[in-house]
Amino acid sequence: MAPSDTARPPLDPRLFGDGPARDPRFTVREVWAELENYPDGTPERDHEFLHRQMNEEMCVMENAARSLADFPDADWSVRKGLARQCADEARHTMNYHRLLLARGGHVGQYPVTNFQYRILGRIDNLLGRLAVQNRSFEADGLDAATHALAEARAKGDEVLAETYDAQQADEVCHIRFANDYIKAQLQQSPRVGLQIARALNLCAEAFAQVFAGGGEDVEKYGVAVEARLEAGFSPEEVEVAVRQSNERRAAVRARLGLT
Ligand SMILES: [Fe+2]
Ligand SMILES: [Fe+2]
Repeated sequence: MAPSDTARPPLDPRLFGDGPARDPRFTVREVWAELENYPDGTPERDHEFLHRQMNEEMCVMENAARSLADFPDADWSVRKGLARQCADEARHTMNYHRLLLARGGHVGQYPVTNFQYRILGRIDNLLGRLAVQNRSFEADGLDAATHALAEARAKGDEVLAETYDAQQADEVCHIRFANDYIKAQLQQSPRVGLQIARALNLCAEAFAQVFAGGGEDVEKYGVAVEARLEAGFSPEEVEVAVRQSNERRAAVRARLGLT
């Protein structure tokens, strides 16, 4: 659906900064409903997914790079984590690009959205950015990659399975360094928890706008428990995530009439 066909209100500029640079091949849309959302199990969906994922990995790389530039005085350990993340996300972008081309697709074939980059642009502190990008977006991505890995293996798509497998290992490291940093900072000064809470609230509000037309009806998979523990979440945090995920999926199943 083209943006001109929709009657939605504009995104709130309080929640969304500028988008990243994209060359003219890309068609950039603002919300999920304006993307090409093909049904699961269709060939178009698999193709579009590679394209979407390629752009998302690029946004994550750009977020990590921007944080490195914006916070030159942050601890060396966290800057080293961000630098490594830039390299990893660049590799993920190139992996999806290669797969897209190998399977007959091309850059710019589908519209993309850069909401991750735009939301991070409205968070002015490193703890908040890490809480949103690494600890939330990437933890959700880890659940998705863990599920997709099993799905690709079951289908016998070894090339895709290997891509997810390598990516999963990298994402664990990205979440882990953020978890370690956030926990150390909270121990030194529990007041920094306010920055994190503010950032997470902003993200929740922004998400509600991006996905107002759908896109969060994921009920196929839950929390990747082992991978999240490996990524530095405590057993209690994982337990809460599992409970929330189960409740959310049950609500989605009820809404879709799947129960
Ligand atoms: Fe990645
Ligand atoms: Fe990552």
